[in-house]
Amino acid sequence: MIPLIKPFIPDKEILMPRLEKILYSGYVAEGEAVYEFENKFSDLIGNKYCLSVNSGTAALHISLKLIGVGPGDEVISTALTAEPTNTTIALTGAKIVFADVDYETGLISAEEIEKNISEKTKAIMVVHYAGMVCDMDKINIISRKYDIPVIEDAAHALFSKYKGIYIGNNSRYTCFSFQAIKHMTTIDGGMLCLNNEKEYNRAKKLRWFGLDKKIPRLDNNILEPGFKYHMNNVNATIGLVQLDCIQNNAFKYIENGIYFDNALKNIPGVTLIPYYNNTIPSYWLYTLKVKDRKSFIKKMEDNDISASPLHLRNDRHNIFNYNKTLSNLDAFYNEFVHIPCGWWINQDELDKIVSTIKSGW
Ligand SMILES: Cc1ncc(COP(=O)(O)O)c(C=O)c1O
Repeated sequence: MIPLIKPFIPDKEILMPRLEKILYSGYVAEGEAVYEFENKFSDLIGNKYCLSVNSGTAALHISLKLIGVGPGDEVISTALTAEPTNTTIALTGAKIVFADVDYETGLISAEEIEKNISEKTKAIMVVHYAGMVCDMDKINIISRKYDIPVIEDAAHALFSKYKGIYIGNNSRYTCFSFQAIKHMTTIDGGMLCLNNEKEYNRAKKLRWFGLDKKIPRLDNNILEPGFKYHMNNVNATIGLVQLDCIQNNAFKYIENGIYFDNALKNIPGVTLIPYYNNTIPSYWLYTLKVKDRKSFIKKMEDNDISASPLHLRNDRHNIFNYNKTLSNLDAFYNEFVHIPCGWWINQDELDKIVSTIKSGW
């Protein structure tokens, strides 16, 4: 079966000596390897305020804390995402207001964001789902008009672009995940990209209890309680080795995605997703809409190709206590499906996927 997702782990010969060295170095906690990983990631993305953490969830949680989101506030978000996008908001005590998606793309709709803004809105959470970039031209305008910060959940969007620049440089907060199945895994890990030094320094303390690493532990004085969200040298070492491979791997996702964009045009029963102005997806999962999805998935499975949606729409979870209708999401959710697109798919498999779809279901 061609899988939908697959972790990339670098060759043993390259990874193991580096891992062994750090494991027995006497320093496995947050140290030089972490800072080197952050610096290299910063260079790659083009943002000097990149702070590593131990998950994408941690990056989201710190962003909300930096904004000061809490009980009585509202955060506008999307239901079409992995749960951590919204459980982190729930943890702050704020109310989640789900804005409907754009039926064409499944991504949070800028118009629906604006409709849902109230005096209580403290943040706007957008998710570049499956690597497709939200309508940032419009979302940036709304953010400026109402002076409400945007958090970009970019867990799927490493190497997606907005205005020709990598995601991670646009909003005040961008959160990446290096969890097992993402473009780049450090087994678990994440990166919070900020746009100013003040918040970068505050976030640095928030990721480690509120302690200041620059001051000796015995002289420290916590002024704001923080989390235990820092990355350690072992995960960072895996990240450093991954960074040597990521350009090639990420390129494969994008190359495969562009191939599908062209090869799957004009097939009866298939609707391709349009990408917004000034955006280029990272194609973490190739997403399309199909008629009679159940039969489509069955046909793909009969041909040893995984095809499926990945996440339960979050408004279905009781904790979010949401009963408003999201009619665009209702329609999109019944039709969309992901097909494999990542680094492990070769040309023969791409052709097989395309010919299987072309033969109908
Ligand atoms: C959209 C989205 N946001 C956030 C996360 C959280 O990332 P992590 O698993 O690194 O905490 C994930 C992945 O799990 C995700 O898919």
